[in-house]
Amino acid sequence: MWLATLELRDLRNLREVDLELSGGLNVFVGRNAQGKTSVLEGVGLIARGRSFRTDRLPALIRRGTTTARAGGRVVSPERECRLGVHVTGERRRLSVDGAAVRPRDYAGRFEVGVYSTDRLRVVRGTMRDRRQFVDRSAGALWPVYRRLGRDYERVLRQRNAALESGGRDLGAWTDGLISVGAELRQRRSDYVRLLQEQLRGGYGPEGERYAIRASPDLGASAEPAQREHLAEELSARAGAERGARRSLAGPHRDPILLAIEGEETDTASSGQQRSLLLALTLASLEVYRRETGSRAVTLLDDLDSELDERRAGALCERVARDGQALVTTAHRAWVDGIGLPVRTFLVEGGRVVAA
Ligand SMILES: Nc1ncnc2c1ncn2[C@@H]1O[C@H](COP(=O)(O)OP(=O)(O)OP(=O)(O)O)[C@@H](O)[C@H]1O
Ligand SMILES: [Mg+2]
Repeated sequence: MWLATLELRDLRNLREVDLELSGGLNVFVGRNAQGKTSVLEGVGLIARGRSFRTDRLPALIRRGTTTARAGGRVVSPERECRLGVHVTGERRRLSVDGAAVRPRDYAGRFEVGVYSTDRLRVVRGTMRDRRQFVDRSAGALWPVYRRLGRDYERVLRQRNAALESGGRDLGAWTDGLISVGAELRQRRSDYVRLLQEQLRGGYGPEGERYAIRASPDLGASAEPAQREHLAEELSARAGAERGARRSLAGPHRDPILLAIEGEETDTASSGQQRSLLLALTLASLEVYRRETGSRAVTLLDDLDSELDERRAGALCERVARDGQALVTTAHRAWVDGIGLPVRTFLVEGGRVVAA
């Protein structure tokens, strides 16, 4: 799949952008603070209906205006459609071929993998950031994962309300949490195992080794065991839950473990953390390709600040050889060495033009 056109209106500092993209490699060149990352953010917004930089929708709207818009034509072998996202204040409206749709009906049409230092919280932020990365990537792959995520949110809310009020229906919500939570845990650990397989043979400068693990991971086809495990965790915490008045076990609290050369990432250098993020991004793109047979679009922000020019060029060739990639850089020279046709755009003061 690829994004054939990109239209942005009043997104960050981008006033009016209309581009015809290449199905291969697109490079956005510009000095600092000209709008490069914002272009990629706009593409991410079209894919996921949310920004990869912030959860605060109003931050996307160009100062002095009231609505930001991002849209484009997505082409895949099966179909072609126009996707659009309007952000007004705290609200967003999603559309497919001009018709407003619910988020659940919007999802699954266009997928991106993003590397940007703005995403480093996946590596060094909270467990919530890591879960979000895994849940969104797995959700992009499997509609059933998205449904489970929604069902789990609902059951968790109801169970927390029952704990809050001391309601008698707690037992029923506990059963619900166990059944949905166990399935979600199983699918999450299945997805993380696929990621781990790709990490093993994937990107790693100087042969550095990365690992990701979902906890608890009880192995493949372990759903009955997951159910038993979650039931035991909840019963062990029953007293604490009555005190805390909320659910203290389940996928909403599970850790996702990341390691560089066998060590947790909190002691890693910032260069190592960036490399791990890049490795995770590439692994998630590869999992997507293997599971769906289609390539998601690769977004690489400031790649040449991460890699030397030769490696940056080689990586661009790899991701754009049979798929679409959008890459930003402050330095144009290295792009000329890439052995693929490149469509170059200049980004300056919130304007983007084909070079
Ligand atoms: N809501 C907004 N309204 C107007 N301008 C904004 C808004 N949000 C961010 N900006 C500005 O948009 C500009 C472009 O930001 P962006 O992060 O896209 O730059 P960049 O080209 O990626 O820079 P760098 O090379 O430093 O990463 C910045 O000057 C930023 O302050
Ligand atoms: Mg930037």
